[in-house]
Amino acid sequence: MFVDRSLNQRTAKSKVTDNKKCKGITLALSNQKGGVGKTTTVSALASIYAGQGLKVLAVDNDPQANLSLQFGVDYENKDHPGSIAELYEGKKRIEEVIVQTEHGSYLIPAMIDLARIEMYLPGVQGSDLKLKKMLDPIRKDYDLILIDAPPNLGKLAVNALTASDWYLVPVDGPWGLRSLDTLISVAQENTELYRDVKTKLLGIVLTMRVKTKIMANLRESTAQRYPSKLLKSEIRRSTVALESSALQTPIPIYSKDSAVAEDYRMLADELAQILSLY
Ligand SMILES: Nc1ncnc2c1ncn2[C@@H]1O[C@H](COP(=O)(O)OP(=O)(O)O)[C@@H](O)[C@H]1O
Ligand SMILES: [Mg+2]
Repeated sequence: MFVDRSLNQRTAKSKVTDNKKCKGITLALSNQKGGVGKTTTVSALASIYAGQGLKVLAVDNDPQANLSLQFGVDYENKDHPGSIAELYEGKKRIEEVIVQTEHGSYLIPAMIDLARIEMYLPGVQGSDLKLKKMLDPIRKDYDLILIDAPPNLGKLAVNALTASDWYLVPVDGPWGLRSLDTLISVAQENTELYRDVKTKLLGIVLTMRVKTKIMANLRESTAQRYPSKLLKSEIRRSTVALESSALQTPIPIYSKDSAVAEDYRMLADELAQILSLY
């Protein structure tokens, strides 16, 4: 079912090596809970901003490789130019593994072998800063670098945080909020531990919204606990999201006129204003 139909390496290379200086903002999507919409949100935002003419790089930093699949890139069992695991191992240069997707944004793909990296990283010196060291030299080639993180607080998730100026937390219900304080303290500790790390909480976005009392209560309690961090935009629950995953196409491309695509465009505008992206 998975088809690799999105690679355009020649274009990627020529654009990546051009000299235009971009904003170079890095943003991780983080939440220890899985299934909250991290990956869906990275792919939606990347395609919206690319459609608006921004140069966007999406980084698949999760061994599940769902972000790569969402862009139609499936490297298992076939020849490929390299994936993020080889960057962690220092076996490839970053320019060699960046590919351009058919929707305009760029991608550093992942494969399941990234799970191996997570096992060896704890013993490696500077292991919390590996992704940051990879991305810092190229960040000014992009307006925005979006990093997809795995659903835990292991080494890869910490690397996503330390590599980022900001992190955005999707929350899909009361349980999605449970581990937020831990995530906030880990991000804070890293800024104290490492001089160059300045990761800040950009906001909390409610996802999978249904019109129930529970969701209304969640909005209220989140706003009280994290004043000024709860974003106005909300992403509704929609079967369009499931279909777009199955067809390996980001929501705003798969169904441009759907209500959930409009939710994502509103979120993109809200974030762009906070980040002064335009
Ligand atoms: N707004 C939504 N409505 C319904 N299903 C969604 C929505 N956003 C994501 N999904 C689905 O929920 C599942 C988990 O989403 P995903 O983005 O992979 O979460 P995470 O990366 O946090 O684990 C996927 O099958 C995805 O298609
Ligand atoms: Mg994911």
